[in-house]
Parts: sequence; structure tokens; C-alpha cells
Amino acid sequence: MLSILGLSLLTALVSAQANNGAITANGMNFTLTADNMSYLFHVDPATLDLTSVHFGGPVDDFTPPANIYEGGWSDGLTNTRREFPDVGRSDFRLPAIHILHSGGDTVSAFYYQSHEIMAGKPDLPGLPATHGNEDDVTTLMVSLYDNYSDVSAVLSYSIFPRYNAIARSFQISNNGSNEIVIERAASFSVDLPNLDLDLVELQGDWAHERNRVRRPVTYGETSFRSTEGYSSHVHNPFLALVSSDTGESQGEAWGFNLVYTGSFAATAERFSHGFVRVLLGLNPLHSSWHLQPGETFTSPEAVAVYSSEGLGGMSRSFHDLYRNHLSRSNKTFQTRPVLLNNWEGLGFDINETALVNLAEEAAELGIKLFVNDDGWFGNGEYARTSDNAGLGDWEVNRERFPNGLGPYVAQIDNLTVARTGGQDMQFGLWFEPEMVNQNSTLYQEHPEWAMHDRGYPRTLTRNQLVLNVALPEVQDYIIEVVSRIIDSANIQYIKWDNNRGIHEMPSPSTDHQYMLGLYRLIDNLTTTHPEILWEGCASGGGRFDAGLLYYWPQHWTSDNTDAADRLNIQLGTSLVYPPSSMGCHISAIPNGITQRNISIEYRAHVALWCGSFGLELNPSELSDEERAAVPGIIREYERINPMVISGSFYRLRLPEYSNWPAVQVISEDENQSVVFAFQQKNAVKPAAPPLRLQGLDASARYLNDADNSTYTGATYMNAGLNLAFEGDYDSQLIHLYKQQ
Ligand SMILES: *[C@@H]1O[C@H](CO)[C@@H](O)[C@H](O)[C@H]1NC(C)=O
Ligand SMILES: *[C@@H]1O[C@H](CO)[C@@H](O)[C@H](O)[C@H]1NC(C)=O
Ligand SMILES: *[C@@H]1O[C@H](CO)[C@@H](O)[C@H](O)[C@H]1NC(C)=O
Ligand SMILES: *[C@@H]1O[C@H](CO)[C@@H](O)[C@H](O)[C@H]1NC(C)=O
Ligand SMILES: *[C@@H]1O[C@H](CO)[C@@H](O)[C@H](O)[C@H]1NC(C)=O
Ligand SMILES: *[C@@H]1O[C@H](CO)[C@@H](O)[C@H](O)[C@H]1NC(C)=O
Ligand SMILES: *[C@@H]1O[C@H](CO)[C@@H](O)[C@H](O)[C@H]1NC(C)=O
Ligand SMILES: *[C@@H]1O[C@H](CO)[C@@H](O)[C@H](O)[C@H]1NC(C)=O
Ligand SMILES: *[C@@H]1O[C@H](CO)[C@@H](O)[C@H](O)[C@H]1NC(C)=O
Ligand SMILES: *[C@@H]1O[C@H](CO)[C@@H](O)[C@H](O)[C@H]1NC(C)=O
Ligand SMILES: *[C@@H]1O[C@H](CO)[C@@H](O)[C@H](O)[C@H]1NC(C)=O
Ligand SMILES: *[C@@H]1O[C@H](CO)[C@@H](O)[C@H](O)[C@H]1NC(C)=O
Repeated sequence: MLSILGLSLLTALVSAQANNGAITANGMNFTLTADNMSYLFHVDPATLDLTSVHFGGPVDDFTPPANIYEGGWSDGLTNTRREFPDVGRSDFRLPAIHILHSGGDTVSAFYYQSHEIMAGKPDLPGLPATHGNEDDVTTLMVSLYDNYSDVSAVLSYSIFPRYNAIARSFQISNNGSNEIVIERAASFSVDLPNLDLDLVELQGDWAHERNRVRRPVTYGETSFRSTEGYSSHVHNPFLALVSSDTGESQGEAWGFNLVYTGSFAATAERFSHGFVRVLLGLNPLHSSWHLQPGETFTSPEAVAVYSSEGLGGMSRSFHDLYRNHLSRSNKTFQTRPVLLNNWEGLGFDINETALVNLAEEAAELGIKLFVNDDGWFGNGEYARTSDNAGLGDWEVNRERFPNGLGPYVAQIDNLTVARTGGQDMQFGLWFEPEMVNQNSTLYQEHPEWAMHDRGYPRTLTRNQLVLNVALPEVQDYIIEVVSRIIDSANIQYIKWDNNRGIHEMPSPSTDHQYMLGLYRLIDNLTTTHPEILWEGCASGGGRFDAGLLYYWPQHWTSDNTDAADRLNIQLGTSLVYPPSSMGCHISAIPNGITQRNISIEYRAHVALWCGSFGLELNPSELSDEERAAVPGIIREYERINPMVISGSFYRLRLPEYSNWPAVQVISEDENQSVVFAFQQKNAVKPAAPPLRLQGLDASARYLNDADNSTYTGATYMNAGLNLAFEGDYDSQLIHLYKQQ
């Protein structure tokens, strides 16, 4: 897992031509150039420190730094803008790298040593990361050395010019003869000049994920972190800095996202001179990474995107970068089958007969993928008939499935889906492999595999414990049991759940070790089973992060399926992650969490602009009107899904600022667009404002197939649509076709 990048051999072959001029080094001045962004830094010849010069819109030259009045205690490096701040060396701000040396001392001095530029981008050993070929990405590696402690660092910057994005990570090697401990590792760190900025982040909790919050970056630290062991519902490993006048479609935005599933910390620190330091990386509370002589630590990768076209432009860069150069699933650009999940319909009350009956009803409705949720495993006293037993025992329950999994799944496969011209139904299965109940054979045999610290009580959440996935034997066990089940039946989809956070880690570094183990086993399972459509889930959206989106093409967005709340959650999620990666379902009313009754059309319009759509209800409980609406909704999904999978997404209006939120998707070939417009509350006055579209060809005419009207793109974008709404939670779906 810990090894050094072995690519220096290639470098000599790379000419300025081969990297398309995306990176140039003029002496020790480095210029990284994207289509609409420049990133400049250089080595200060006096201090051999890396100095940030510019990150923003296109520039051509290195210019002198800001004039800062020198005096008092703030002197030296504290008055400079730095790329890789260490501890000591006259900087009072927070470091990106904090090393505890064997003598207990913490000063470090990473001096510039050398650099190399290469076309393409090397993999990060054992970690998810963006990737691309020589035409997509160019990489600069800067080597630094602390000759007092014999510690080396290699900072790696990879620029994806078409996406105005830079991926950064670093490696630390212990070249000395004593152990060192890495206490803090911020994958991205950059110092922006004295600008008035706001910080935008995604805050929430279970069933309330990823609410957009915005606050000014004032003096001191503006920060947030996850301590849950996972990226979590509470904060997401993402922050954006925006100018105070930046909105959805105008103004500058700098977005930062960690490609990681563990605990993290995000900070914007503004010092007395006004400079703003951005730090995004491991949570120092869950670091303390011990590095023996000769060993190398690789930080997770962080991605930064710059946009001069507001948060919307930033989001579209992330969406396109992540679909093309983060995801390595070959399902990412495939449309996804409409599914029915049995959980909200049946809960734990399942068996072969009940499920086959449910699947038959689903097939009649036109559902293509039947997902068997929790409750199918564990035997005898550990049968999974409630949430207090069975997790860890991944063997099919013989009472509930007397013929075993294969013959049961064959019955599902044998069902013909209505209105598909004879397609067979597909089968999907739920797992929660990283967890264990004390009521399980696995726990009785291996209590030491559950996360614990010495004799401290093992804190239960939802009656379960977390397996210590840092242990290779636990990784191998999960690979083996999941593979065995997959190979025992025709399974085409897996929902991989994870329903609690981590407590009682035996050491702070267990979290990162766990993540390396998790990535190893997911890498194994996705590589050996490429036919499977994998969906992540973590009590809803508790691990909606770029780390897992590297392996899996989609993630369940939230356990809250109330359409009013979901609109907010999905729009927040779309700040970074493509709608094509979101799982969104229609559930029954009154909603189980909010008790709201919202029409099936509105529920559908909220769910249809996600990559994976389905029903999460018992079909026999649908009203006649709802049942009658389902085939039309599935037809709409199949019409819209290709656009969502590869098109561009626009947030036209947000529910927190408008009673009439709206979103728009434009197909990849730009010939079609679909608009979803919502009215939250019935309003006597004022009138709904005109809905101005975005991203159309101003001079082309677009046909609205609902009434055959045509208007130019300019009319749609500058005058907008006047829509009529009736009552609370009313919505409209509009298709536009570009006329040739
Ligand atoms: C590098 O940039 C500095 C200003 O930051 C400038 O003084 C110097 O001449 C530049 N060096 C080269 C080789 O371009
Ligand atoms: C971004 O760069 C592309 C390619 O150079 C150009 O066509 C486009 O107009 C630029 N957009 C902005 C907002 O500058
Ligand atoms: C370490 O390197 C710096 C920069 O080259 C140099 O000034 C310093 O004397 C060196 N210190 C030692 C102990 O070699
Ligand atoms: C430090 O160790 C790394 C990893 O073993 C090695 O690649 C690098 O060349 C070493 N650097 C020096 C200056 O010895
Ligand atoms: C299967 O479950 C259904 C619903 O709970 C129940 O009515 C039926 O008796 C069960 N069948 C068997 C064979 O256990
Ligand atoms: C184990 O199962 C028993 C019997 O169902 C139950 O009473 C107990 O609470 C369970 N233990 C845990 C930790 O869930
Ligand atoms: C599949 O369906 C056919 C016709 O309905 C039936 O004859 C056959 O036994 C079924 N096979 C399975 C495995 O259920
Ligand atoms: C997956 O893991 C198993 C068990 O550890 C191992 O035998 C196999 O070689 C691995 N396969 C891949 C593709 O990593
Ligand atoms: C893509 O998926 C198909 C099955 O859907 C699989 O057979 C194929 O091997 C996959 N390709 C790669 C490169 O993983
Ligand atoms: C939702 O509808 C049910 C009946 O279908 C009704 O009992 C309930 O009061 C309604 N809830 C709200 C919040 O309107
Ligand atoms: C999209 O429009 C272009 C011309 O603007 C045309 O060449 C192409 O065939 C169209 N594609 C589809 C799928 O209609
Ligand atoms: C729109 O035009 C098409 C083709 O002429 C026609 O089939 C359709 O009925 C028209 N739709 C409406 C709503 O007028």
C-alpha cells in the first residue's frame, strides 16, 4: 500500500509539446494553464519555500507579491502566500503538514529540491483518484527535502485543462533512521490573497443531508470536519470559497473536494493581512500516521476547480470531471434500470413467496430491477428478522428461502417486465458488509474483529458494531463472503449499506488504515465483478463522497424521500456530485419521516433528474390514480435518463431562495433540454417570476412538445417561461427540442 510513485523514468521523454503547454516551468516559476484558469506558484530563491502566486482566471505573468507592512511579531513567511506550509519557519498560520519527530519535536523545513513534468497522471497507490491519458491531464511533481530531519515530500499537481481542475496530493518519505508521526496532512493547501470571500459548505445530518450553508470567511478559522470515521451526513468533504457577489451563474468560485471516505477537516484561515489559507485533508484527530524509516505515506487526493461562472459553473466542472476522469465504473455512462426496493413495502417481513409476489406486481408495473433489501441472511438464533441479529453472517436464511438464493433469483429473472417487449426482470441484493451484530456467528467466533479499544465498552449504534476493516483478515473475509453470494445467483445490482459511525478506534490512524482496507476490498470486488451495478448507501447519504464514486457509479442520496425535503438534499448534493450519481425514489404517502402528502407527479419530478430512479413502496398500496400514473412516469424516466447520465445540469432557482425552484438538464449533444419547475406553496401573490433557462443556443429555436410552441434560446434565456401552478407542491416537466 505504501510505495513511491515509480514514474520518473517517463519524464525525460516528455517535451513541452507533449503536455500541450498545460504546465510550464520557467526556472522555478510554475504555470499551470487550463481553458479558463491559471494556477501559478514559484520557489522563493531566498527561502526555497513554495509560494502561491495566483489561482483564478487566466493570467500571463508572474507579478510581485502584495506589499505588507513589516513590523511587530508577524514577519517572514507569515507574510507570504504558501503552497505547503510546515511547522516553525516563521509562519503562525495552520500547517498543511505537521510531523512529530522521534525526539518529540515538531519543526519541519521542506526546501525545494527538484521538479519534473509529465504527460498523464500516475495512480495513487491504494487510493481512489482522478485519472486520464496524456491528452487529458498533465502532472507536475515537486520534490522537497527537510535536511535537518531527513524527511522528503513530493507534491503532485495534475491539471485537467478542459475542466479547470487541479488534483493535488503528496507523499512523505521517512529518509531518516527513526520513526516519525504525521499528525496533520492537508492534501490541498493554497493561500489566496486578501479577498472578501464567503465559504459555502454542505451541512446536515441523517435524513437532512447536504444543506447548503454560506458564511463570510472572517479572521481566524472558518472550519468544519467529520469525526465519524466516514465522510458523514454532518459535513461533506467539500468547501467552496466564493466572492461575496457570486451567485449560481455569475462570479468567481473556488471549489475544493477531498477524494476520500474517512474523517476529514476543512479550514479557511484568514490572517491579519487578509490572506485566506485553504486546507483540506485528513482530520488531525484521526491521523497520527506512524512512518518507519524507508516508508512512504501517500495523502488522499483533493480536487480544486475554479469557475468565473458562479457555483453553477463550478458544479458542472466537477460533474464532467468526475464522470469522465474519476469514476472507473463502466456503468457511469449507461442508463440505469428503473427499480423497486422492497424495504419500505415489507421491511424485515420477507420470504421467498412474499418477495416473488412483490416482484410480480413490480413486473406488471414495468419495473426492470427488483432489489431485495435487508433480512435475507443469518440463520437459527441469529436469523436477521430484526436489526439486533445476523449482520456478519452472509449466508442465505434457509427458513425464508428454503430453495436457496439461486432458484429464488431464477424465479425473479423469469418474470417478464410489462411494456418492454419481453425483457426479463433483473435482481439486486442488499449488503452491509462492514458491520457485525453481537448476535451473530461471526462475532461469536471473532469478537476481536469488531472495532474496540482494549477493555472499553463497545458502543452500539442500531444494535451493531463496526468491523475493523483495517485488518487484512477482515478484508479477506468480506471479499470471500460477498463473492460467494454473488457467484451463487444471477445478481446484477448490489446496494452496499453502512449504518453507523465509528467509535472506540484503537488508534487515531485506524481510520485511514480502515479506508485503505475498504478501498482494497472494493477494488477487488468491483474488478472481479464488473457486471454488477453497485450503489453505495450509508444510512442514506452518509458516504456520498468522491472516494466511493471512483469505484461505484451511484449512491443513495438520503433516507428522506419526502419530495419537499429531497429537492433541497439533491440540489445540495449537486453542488459537487453529478445528478447522474444520485439514487432517487418515489415512496408512499403520507411520507414516513415528514408525514407530508405530496402528489405522485411532484414526487416523480423531484426523483426523475437523478441517474437512478425507482419506487420504494408496496405496489399493492398505491391508489388507483397513482397506479395509473406509474407507466407514464417510467416512460418519462427512460426518455430523460440518457440526458441526465451524460448531459449538463443547471440549478435555475433554489428552494431556499424561491418558492418556485427549478432545474434544467441539457443533453450532451445539446439538441434537447428538459426543465423541472416546482411551486412549493400556493401563493395568492406575488406571481411566479419568469423562469429563465440557461445553456441554450441563443439563436436556435426550441420546440416545446406539450403545445408545439417554439421560441428562440435567447427568448427562453432572457425573457423566460411564464408557468401556471395550482396549489401546494405543484410541478411541471417541459421538454424542449432544438430545431435544425
Ligand atoms: C519568476 O517570477 C518572479 C516573480 O515572482 C520574477 O521576478 C522572476 O524573474 C521569474 N523568473 C523567471 C525565470 O521567469
Ligand atoms: C473558457 O474557455 C473556452 C476554451 O478556451 C472558451 O471557449 C470559453 O469561452 C471560455 N469561457 C469563459 C467563461 O471564459
Ligand atoms: C539544509 O539545506 C538548506 C537549504 O539548502 C541549507 O541552507 C542548510 O544549511 C542545510 N542544513 C543542513 C543541516 O544541512
Ligand atoms: C527518500 O526516500 C524516498 C523513498 O524511499 C526515496 O524515493 C528518495 O529518493 C529519498 N530521498 C533522498 C533525498 O534520499
Ligand atoms: C411468507 O411471508 C408472508 C408475509 O409475511 C406470509 O403470509 C407467509 O405465510 C410466508 N410464507 C412462508 C412459507 O413462510
Ligand atoms: C440479541 O438478541 C436477543 C434476543 O433477540 C435480544 O434480546 C438482545 O437485545 C440482542 N442483543 C443485541 C446486542 O442486540
Ligand atoms: C419460468 O416461467 C415458465 C413459464 O411461466 C415456467 O414454466 C418455469 O418453470 C419458470 N421457471 C422458473 C425457474 O421459475
Ligand atoms: C481478490 O481477493 C482475493 C482474496 O483475497 C484474491 O485471491 C484475489 O486475487 C483478489 N483479486 C483481485 C482482482 O484483486
Ligand atoms: C463492463 O461491464 C460489462 C458488463 O456489464 C463487463 O462484461 C465488462 O468486462 C466491463 N468492462 C470493463 C472494462 O470492466
Ligand atoms: C395525509 O393523508 C392522510 C390520508 O391519506 C391523512 O390521514 C393525513 O392527515 C394527511 N397528512 C397531512 C399532513 O396532510
Ligand atoms: C444534433 O444536432 C446536430 C446539429 O446541430 C445534428 O448534426 C445531430 O444529428 C443532432 N443529433 C441528434 C441526436 O438529433
Ligand atoms: C404537435 O405537432 C405534432 C406533429 O405535427 C402533432 O402530432 C401533435 O399532435 C401536436 N401536439 C399538440 C399538443 O398540438
